[in-house]
Amino acid sequence: MEKAQLQEGPRRPGRHQRDGGILLVIKNNVILTVVVAVITTYLLSSQWHAPRPQEHHRYTNQLDATGLEYGIAQCALNQRRPVVDKNLASSRLAARSSVGPRTILHNATLIDGDGTITLESTIVIQDGIFTKVSKAPVDDLLEPASPDDRVINLQGRIVTPGLVDAHSHAGVRETPQLWATEDVTEISAPVTPWARAVDALKPHDRAIPVIASGGVTTSLVLTGAKNQISGEGVVIKMKWANSVRDMLVNTTGSGGGKPQRYLKMAMGENQKRQFENSASGPSTRLGESYWFRKAYDEAARLKRRQDRWCEAASTAQGLTSITQEYPRSLEWQTLVDVLRGDVRVNVHGYETEDILAMFDHADEFGFNITALHHALHADLVMDQIKTRNIAVVGFSDSWGDKKELYNVSSYLPRRIAENGIPFVLTRDHPALHGQWLIYEAQIAHHFGLDAESTISSVISLPARLLGLDNRIGFVRPGYDGDLVVWDRHPLQVGAHPLEVYIDGKSVTRASDSLWKTSESLSYTREAPISRPSDEPETTCRSGQSNIVIRGLKMSFVGVDGLRIKEPETGNMTVVVRAGRIVCVGGNKCDHVARQAAEDNVPSMDLPKNGYMLPGLTVVTRQHGLTEMRQEPSTADGFSAGEDYASPLSSRFGIKFDGIHLGRAYRSGVARIVTPPLTEGFFHGTSTLFRAGAKSVLDDGAIAKPKVALHFTIGHSAKSSLTPSITSQISKLRELLTVDKYINPVYQSAARGEIPVVVHTNNKDVIAHMVALKKETGAHIVIMGGSEAHLVAAELAEAVVPVIVAPFWGCEPLFWDSRNCLPGPPLTDRLGPQVLIDAGVKVGISNWDDTNNHIRNSIWEASWVAGPGNRSLALDLVSKNIEDILQLPRSRDFVVYEGDPFNFGAKVALIFEEGKVQSCYPDVDEN
Ligand SMILES: *[C@@H]1O[C@H](CO)[C@@H](O)[C@H](O)[C@H]1NC(C)=O
Ligand SMILES: *[C@@H]1O[C@H](CO)[C@@H](O)[C@H](O)[C@H]1NC(C)=O
Ligand SMILES: *[C@@H]1O[C@H](CO)[C@@H](O)[C@H](O)[C@H]1NC(C)=O
Ligand SMILES: *[C@@H]1O[C@H](CO)[C@@H](O)[C@H](O)[C@H]1NC(C)=O
Ligand SMILES: *[C@@H]1O[C@H](CO)[C@@H](O)[C@H](O)[C@H]1NC(C)=O
Ligand SMILES: *[C@@H]1O[C@H](CO)[C@@H](O)[C@H](O)[C@H]1NC(C)=O
Repeated sequence: MEKAQLQEGPRRPGRHQRDGGILLVIKNNVILTVVVAVITTYLLSSQWHAPRPQEHHRYTNQLDATGLEYGIAQCALNQRRPVVDKNLASSRLAARSSVGPRTILHNATLIDGDGTITLESTIVIQDGIFTKVSKAPVDDLLEPASPDDRVINLQGRIVTPGLVDAHSHAGVRETPQLWATEDVTEISAPVTPWARAVDALKPHDRAIPVIASGGVTTSLVLTGAKNQISGEGVVIKMKWANSVRDMLVNTTGSGGGKPQRYLKMAMGENQKRQFENSASGPSTRLGESYWFRKAYDEAARLKRRQDRWCEAASTAQGLTSITQEYPRSLEWQTLVDVLRGDVRVNVHGYETEDILAMFDHADEFGFNITALHHALHADLVMDQIKTRNIAVVGFSDSWGDKKELYNVSSYLPRRIAENGIPFVLTRDHPALHGQWLIYEAQIAHHFGLDAESTISSVISLPARLLGLDNRIGFVRPGYDGDLVVWDRHPLQVGAHPLEVYIDGKSVTRASDSLWKTSESLSYTREAPISRPSDEPETTCRSGQSNIVIRGLKMSFVGVDGLRIKEPETGNMTVVVRAGRIVCVGGNKCDHVARQAAEDNVPSMDLPKNGYMLPGLTVVTRQHGLTEMRQEPSTADGFSAGEDYASPLSSRFGIKFDGIHLGRAYRSGVARIVTPPLTEGFFHGTSTLFRAGAKSVLDDGAIAKPKVALHFTIGHSAKSSLTPSITSQISKLRELLTVDKYINPVYQSAARGEIPVVVHTNNKDVIAHMVALKKETGAHIVIMGGSEAHLVAAELAEAVVPVIVAPFWGCEPLFWDSRNCLPGPPLTDRLGPQVLIDAGVKVGISNWDDTNNHIRNSIWEASWVAGPGNRSLALDLVSKNIEDILQLPRSRDFVVYEGDPFNFGAKVALIFEEGKVQSCYPDVDEN
């Protein structure tokens, strides 16, 4: 880092200052006097008091006029802090000169940024801002309506202010990700406070309008977290622009003053990983703290030098002694500004040791922290966070991938918020696709964060964190015209915007048919409930093979545990005798239920809203084989993917413990299919196993040892024997034709007896697979399938099923999936919906490398199926997977309290292998 230290300028021979500044000699004292007089007048008008130089004072060895002027101006600025101008909205309203056309939205249900609800609202947008927000009927507002006005009766639909994502990399980590556009962290050094996100911002990032279509209208674009002080962030509006300038939010308040600024710092595993092999380090947290302290020490010295300069310049006497220019440094000024309190400090970190170390550094150097980002273990150090008045910018459902986010409480958002700490949700786009910030919020709400706090966590609180709650985060007169019209309550499964306004302009509007659909009654305008936390009294006990369950409202399971096509509804009772369901229904079960009571069979009464479903079956890429993806010792290990002659099965690698299986199981996922791990092209054969088994010795633990052959075709699978897509497809074709005799499994595959699962997103690879099926007759299954909708008709015709993963089929992180469908409001249908409409058999699963989302499968299926089509939703995560992979039918069942197809339900009972396995499990328990 020596090279980063600043030489402040060329030195003049013969005149040395102790701290090595330069000396500039001015010859014309007259000019100097005039300049100083002008500056002084300026300064007296602000708060800083500079001396009045005496008219005929003699200056010697002086700095030139520009240098002095610059320094004195800096000294004045040093006295001022950025302020949030609370009068901005009213001054904007007053200052309005142009009177452009109005957009008048009426009969709207306004959920404001803090969650308060106002029915029958009328909202007027004009000249980019809200000009009227009231309960008045529209007629009263139309002081003669101009023909250019747009008047929209929302018929009670919900509107919210635009969502705000306080942690995004949109524009600096463009998607699809390419080497050429990766500009998020300047990793040439561990600390680069001089870097600025604005310099790398790409207005043509295709993700920006897609994110806006999810209702996100403002984002704080931060530099990355690969090094420790990665630089300054920038606030943008999520609108399509041709120039960076058109996206930026002017964070300077109307009263002049300083702009709001944002620094990004990071601690923990990323930095160790990034600099492990560099001579400078850090390779441990020891080194991380050293690099922080060194950087702030540098800044503190510079600040002291500046303050001494300003002190000298504050008296006439001192002014005469100034011989060098105001100390400055391009490298360290940002951190000096942090020490002065001009910058909002955003710290990435997960573990409590990282958070506490950062508190130490803040105390040592005297800076404040605005927000702890991610901070998924913040619930363990809440007192300190609260005392320091720091916000937490977290996730609701990111865990497992590495040690620092391994065992995160599902109730983290609720815990933090209930302790009075501002809790904000983010997507960290593209780590999680920024379009679905509202999904992050929905999950937090499911796990107990109340509806107002949840809405606040994605609207008003992030606006406040940015110091911009004087113009965004609320629908108030004078605020930015950023508004989202929702098709249903935004916390409902599958909610999406119908129209999004940014700065008063409609940037996305759904098709008329989507507007029409949103009128149908099934789209609810109420928030779903949160998960009930109280466990009812129950006589349900693990191990029981006889039980009577009362109070069921809907059942998809019939006698003998078999799936029934359309659900039975009513006030039903289930009677289980000797491990078998003998009756499901209303009065018709009275007799057997009475008999059971006489036999002292325990009974369970569901308080209100019972649902019975088969245990879900999902396909994953690593469940059971990996705990922390980034810790090799917690994984089964990766083959080179080239051992074709003796394909391995994953059956011997499955570990029946850990939080990934546990949390999925306790959410209703009973069976999982996972192929062996590989770094290459060929995985081997997958295994069907019970997520809830204690070990391989448990009944039915391995339900089917050889489910399917799995191949990954794509960039990630390039290895020495299959270094190209061409070689991968050729090899697969050979294994199904000329080479099939190297192992009987390929002969079975060529006869269609064992499925061949091909993991790919790319439309052309998928088309080749259709051709390969036609040529060989193999039962080829596509998994991934982001671009499958482009060949939907061909897939249907050739009867090639698709297991879509991740569920919405559109997270265009990489080139191979760039043509995925973003879904409403940009496109009428999601990719999997197009496939279903075309007649393709579809399953929904998980291809999530962070390995946590499979417990959400039922919601994601429900999202794809649409409200009111629970049969389809359930098929997507059970029957269709069984059909596609030729699995034995499940006879397990799971009873939920609440509607599992929506948020807020809780598993009440899991019944497998002829007995009750679990009663009211908590999702986090071990
Ligand atoms: C407002 O919307 C509701 C539906 O939520 C509708 O019943 C009512 O007629 C609408 N009112 C007006 C004035 O359009
Ligand atoms: C930002 O807003 C302030 C206050 O309205 C104004 O003085 C300044 O010129 C603006 N800056 C830009 C770059 O538009
Ligand atoms: C830190 O916050 C405290 C309390 O708000 C404030 O008094 C102090 O000036 C701040 N310091 C800096 C460097 O921002
Ligand atoms: C996860 O954390 C919880 C709560 O601290 C603890 O009870 C549990 O044992 C932990 N589980 C694992 C696998 O570390
Ligand atoms: C459902 O039926 C039971 C009798 O089996 C009865 O006690 C209960 O009140 C009924 N519940 C509802 C909501 O009708
Ligand atoms: C559910 O979706 C399937 C597939 O699109 C369709 O055939 C079925 O009619 C739908 N059922 C309902 C109740 O909408």
